[in-house]
Amino acid sequence: MNASETSADPAQRAAQLRTLIEEANYRYHVLDDAAIPDVEYDRLMRELEALEATHPELARLDSPTRRVGARPAEGFAEVRHAQRMLSLANAFSEAEVGEFVQRIVERTGNAEPRFSVEPKFDGLAISLRYENGVFVQGATRGDGETGEDVSANLRTIRAIPLRLRGADWPAVLEVRGEVYMPRAGFDAYNAKARAEGGKVLANPRNGAAGSLRQLDPAITATRPLAFYAYAPGDMVESELPATHSAFMTRLRDWGFPVSHLVETARGLDGCLDYFRRIGAQRDTLPFDIDGVVYKLDDLALQRELGFVGRTPRWAIAHKFPAQEQTTRVLAIDINIGRTGAATPIARLEAVQVAGVVVTNATLHNADQIERLDVRVGDSVIVRRAGDVIPEVMRVMHELRPADTVKWQMPTHCPICRSELVREEKQVVWRCSGELICPAQQKESIIHFASRRAMDIDGLGSRLIEDLCDLGFVSSIADLYRLSVADFVEMKRRADERDGTTPETVKAGKVASKWAENLVEAIEHSKRATLERFLFALGIEHVGESTAKVLAQWFGTLERIRHMPWPLLKLLPDIGGEVARSIDQFFAQSGNQQALDDLLVRGVVLSDEHDVSAKLKSRLGVDEFLVQLEIPKLTPRRAEQLAATGNLPDALAGLPSQQLVSAGLPADTVAAWLAWHADAANATLYQRSVRAWNELSELAQSVAGSATALPLEGKTVVLTGTLSSMSRDQAGAKLEALGAKVAGSVSKKTDFVVAGEAAGSKLDKAQALAVEIWDEAKLLDYLAGQGA
Ligand code: IVH
Repeated sequence: MNASETSADPAQRAAQLRTLIEEANYRYHVLDDAAIPDVEYDRLMRELEALEATHPELARLDSPTRRVGARPAEGFAEVRHAQRMLSLANAFSEAEVGEFVQRIVERTGNAEPRFSVEPKFDGLAISLRYENGVFVQGATRGDGETGEDVSANLRTIRAIPLRLRGADWPAVLEVRGEVYMPRAGFDAYNAKARAEGGKVLANPRNGAAGSLRQLDPAITATRPLAFYAYAPGDMVESELPATHSAFMTRLRDWGFPVSHLVETARGLDGCLDYFRRIGAQRDTLPFDIDGVVYKLDDLALQRELGFVGRTPRWAIAHKFPAQEQTTRVLAIDINIGRTGAATPIARLEAVQVAGVVVTNATLHNADQIERLDVRVGDSVIVRRAGDVIPEVMRVMHELRPADTVKWQMPTHCPICRSELVREEKQVVWRCSGELICPAQQKESIIHFASRRAMDIDGLGSRLIEDLCDLGFVSSIADLYRLSVADFVEMKRRADERDGTTPETVKAGKVASKWAENLVEAIEHSKRATLERFLFALGIEHVGESTAKVLAQWFGTLERIRHMPWPLLKLLPDIGGEVARSIDQFFAQSGNQQALDDLLVRGVVLSDEHDVSAKLKSRLGVDEFLVQLEIPKLTPRRAEQLAATGNLPDALAGLPSQQLVSAGLPADTVAAWLAWHADAANATLYQRSVRAWNELSELAQSVAGSATALPLEGKTVVLTGTLSSMSRDQAGAKLEALGAKVAGSVSKKTDFVVAGEAAGSKLDKAQALAVEIWDEAKLLDYLAGQGA
């Protein structure tokens, strides 16, 4: 078809123009093959625009004219991802990649697994949704569960197909990939901005992220953005090919840009070879990359391996060595964090590292300073890896001036003057001031108000610093006392302090509107989910996923705030360190007081509920005993104790002969009695028994309520490969029906689900005459339960 060939019928001509324009986009962005000159492209675009203007009925959602930019938005709507958007674990050395590959070899039994090897694009992850071949929605990753709807902005990116090519795409297709800013575009943009006295972009990555977050798509349309697809999103499994690489080929056929640098490689050697080759090209590539990604190619194996937290077990990012620079240490200060941790910070002579001006770098802790032997006045090498806080890597001792002195950890907190203390066997020094330390107060309030926590709109860290410094708040509960007048007064004093006093009537009006909005945002935050609230408390080691587990399993704040650590450990993914940290947090009376204050001021947890029905399967006497970490009380010994039929209350008082006659060896009995003789342990035991009794009762009543679950009390073992879902997914479905999913087969096992290539577990089940289900039976059963 000739570009200038015209058709009389407007509808036909519009269709023709769309095809020509999108064909040009496809050839340029996907095939890397310049199709028509820019002027010609622009002319076709203008003709289509004119046509759609005179015939509005011809304008369609997937028309390339939509790429120019729709009307500005008020804000971005939230989008719940149908399937979580994950991130990748990082490897910084070949040894770490070796460990990753080794784990896969062990888990899959394949000595030389095949990987899809890809550049790690340094941009912004997004998810694109197509329905019946038409782009309908695009969202940022956000927190992985919910992102922001940036569809209008994404439509302006010509590399993103608005309509899929070919015909064999599924009715609903979600594709994940990276929006990035090519280097040439970034340079040109900045050159122009400089010439016009505008704002320059810090680096291509920030450029991409900032451009996508514009409320006005017309602005995004002026930014040189591009896109590469790299993964499936929400899709029915049966619609996926067998391998990731086959899926990538399909994506390309459907019109998505897939990088030509994507390849497949076998085993560790193949991966490392790819890493070196890409590393050698890194500086000459037209876009920034910060490493490469290895993904196990077999999609069935991917499903089987599953995830740990937010990252898949089947993929890893191998990062390039971070960029480094040399500079000089001007001072070493102490920063006090939310939990009181005292972190030494090196103040540096300003230096550019990977496109960012660095003036501070973390020294991590006193031990690190000792190890590096860093002093004020030293020349040092600083490193900045992606978003990670810059750190001091090495001291160039040969350049040390004559008059330096060895650095020493101060004895007192620079902020509240409380003593800095170091716990036994810990590297971290802490300010002992806890709730009276303004630095800790500030940091905990900043965390509390932050987006992923209570998400108090407008209450950022600068404002919180002012509120604290000027004495308006000193705890999170104080936030809920602030009035409009307080904010206005605070602002007045801050302006006075900073010498910026805009004393006009207009400024007064603006200030009170601003204050009203803040008070409203604070008021709005009073209704929170338990999960967010727990995260917002800023308990050390309690991130979003731990907060979620706590909320799901225990259901109410009241239960969690009094839970002893051995019972916290019963929950999935909560280990000893995390459990103790939670227990310690709630053991501080000041923290309990803060909770009461928050509740009194009207904070309501909107989604509190019963304990999880799943809890029951974890509350066995033996499981309970194991959590207490009593010396010599191995899981097997705990089982023996449990088999005596005594409940934990009674066990504490059993005489030693009775324990020996229950089959416990004498040294275990002695260890158990000695442990219990310690007053602190006895108290912990009592507390734990009480909590265990309460939980058991609660779990019983949940399980015994009208909705008793069909597999309640059943123990199930899954083995082999299932074709319709992963073992994790099957396990989750069975757990949801009340079953306890165990890792090994014993006489107590009620049935074993055996998929393809089941091994020793199946043999053992046969030997013990345990009931065996094949996949068909499982599916039948699940279907029957509506699961
Ligand atoms: S796959 C489950 N492939 O890296 C895996 N990610 O830390 C999902 N990224 O958020 C990601 N290049 O923004 C994948 N070839 C690539 C990538 C890539 C860059 C980014 C992406 C993601 C982050 C993971």
